[in-house]
Amino acid sequence: MPGWGEEAGRLKWSRRWDAELEWDPPAARWFAGGQINASYNALDVQDPSRTAIIWEGEDGSVRRITYGWLLDQASRLAGGLLSMGVGRGDRVAIYLPMIPELPAAMLACARIGAVHTVVFSGLGAASLRSRIADSGARVLVTADAGYRRGARIRLKEAADEAVRGTGVRTIVVRRTGDASLGPGDTWWDDLVSGSAPADPVPLESCHPLFILYTSGTTGMPKGILHGTGGYLVHACSTFRLAFGTRPGDIYWCTADPGWVTGHSYVVYAPLCCGATQVMYEGAPDHPDASRMWQVAERHGVTILYTTPTAIRMQMASGILPGSHDLSALRLLGSVGEPLGAPAWAWYRDEVGGGRCPVIDTWWQTETGGMMVVDPPGGGTPEPGYAGRPVPGIDVRVVDDGGRPAPDGERGRIVVSGTWPGMMIGVWGSEERYASYWSGDPPVYQAGDYAVRDAEGRIRILGRADDVLNVAGHRIGTAEIEACAASHPGVAEAAACGVPDPVRGQSIAVFAVPRGGGFEPGEIRSLVRRDVGPVASPRIVCSVPRLPKTRSGKIMRRILGALAAGSDPGDTSTLEDPGAVEDAARALRGA
Ligand code: WTA
Repeated sequence: MPGWGEEAGRLKWSRRWDAELEWDPPAARWFAGGQINASYNALDVQDPSRTAIIWEGEDGSVRRITYGWLLDQASRLAGGLLSMGVGRGDRVAIYLPMIPELPAAMLACARIGAVHTVVFSGLGAASLRSRIADSGARVLVTADAGYRRGARIRLKEAADEAVRGTGVRTIVVRRTGDASLGPGDTWWDDLVSGSAPADPVPLESCHPLFILYTSGTTGMPKGILHGTGGYLVHACSTFRLAFGTRPGDIYWCTADPGWVTGHSYVVYAPLCCGATQVMYEGAPDHPDASRMWQVAERHGVTILYTTPTAIRMQMASGILPGSHDLSALRLLGSVGEPLGAPAWAWYRDEVGGGRCPVIDTWWQTETGGMMVVDPPGGGTPEPGYAGRPVPGIDVRVVDDGGRPAPDGERGRIVVSGTWPGMMIGVWGSEERYASYWSGDPPVYQAGDYAVRDAEGRIRILGRADDVLNVAGHRIGTAEIEACAASHPGVAEAAACGVPDPVRGQSIAVFAVPRGGGFEPGEIRSLVRRDVGPVASPRIVCSVPRLPKTRSGKIMRRILGALAAGSDPGDTSTLEDPGAVEDAARALRGA
């Protein structure tokens, strides 16, 4: 990677920066003094007649979305937002399915300096409500409904429940046409057709672009706050580094913009780089597992960026992609979870016909963009390894004392110094931002375990904290525990991860009953409703007590080992070792 300043020079700035970096650890100001607008770079500077998105609905319908259409929608919606009193720095929540209006809504906010907070449409009303409350959003953009596995998901109903009594105004995209609007609501079409397009405003490089909530170790997810200039430079330069899109490429990142991968590598980087990409509305295995290959074949996808869970789902389906013409593919990427050697080999051979490089990419919501990747031709990839640090970023694997871990030995991932895509804060909590840093000078603690080999390649082993990775989604054990404990028949609960051959991890909940107790099905429905269907527990057990240390810390590691059928290891530090036998008995009965 050339210098970050050179990378920044590929974007259009309204005012050039005075300093590439002002670094006062742990606070960084990238391109300080510069002024830029993300929506301008994604839309106004592109050829309006060029296809930005080839959108395929779950029902098979296809829409070709040009850069011009996105610009028209985003700039008029921005005008509509201004007329509703939304201004610079104001937050707008977005709760939309995978439809082209989702990037348009994000870019409408960015255009006028409003801060978007996208909430994944698979999350429930309670999650949406708490994110709206925490971010202080006064406007919500949603849709009447979305389609998933043939079913209509009534987003407007969840949105109504989320904003009830809050005075939040709602803009509704008409997808299925079967919602009725309340007094504070307006149809997207009406607002857009009745509003004059708004011009992009020049914003300070560090002006907040978005808040994206992600799970941490407490019940309330953290609102990761990203700036504009540094974030765009990082997302765009790593997009070019990893995928190097060329004219004629059809790129397909299967991520939903409700997660960070969709923010960086569906919306901001590909659009700012003028790419043409596929967006598919529904489930990749609907009506069957070959759907993913049908979509790739139909649109001549050349670069595919997906998750290990999607790959393992395909492997498990028994349907080989070989019956589809995937000869246009030239590059395969993976993100979000460890890509083990079997999935790596299947991806390369069955999907890529043995001719496409497979590149793994490690990064996090907090890092804004890729941190570890071996670009094609940039070194021999090793199955199971995410690759080497992006040039210019000092990713290290260290022992508990912060010293470099010997090659081949497990350590924690830290990043020394800073990088342009680094979050600029945690919304509303300086302490939560500060908690990511330790040492002198402060070093960023990623929260993952990893191993480095003698070639400098990094293998990611998984989270070192109480955060689970279920089908590539980050879910905090604390969120599930708080939700389970909200059932009146639950005194306390512990959640842990259990290895799952397809989804990486699945969730087990151990709950201590009180009063009238609970049915496992009630806990499942509660978690599905309040946290979201992705967090639905596979195992729910009733136990008389939880294994805890003498200081009262729940030993989730022990519960996880029991649920996985493996040896719970040392239980001598427990307050009451009998709790382990209780949990084992409960599992046998579950
Ligand atoms: C995990 C997703 C192994 C890791 C971009 C990290 C990975 C968390 C990889 C961040 C990878 C991400 N190999 N594990 N290539 N990429 N992870 O914030 O545990 O949703 O800390 O960002 O996903 O998840 P997040």
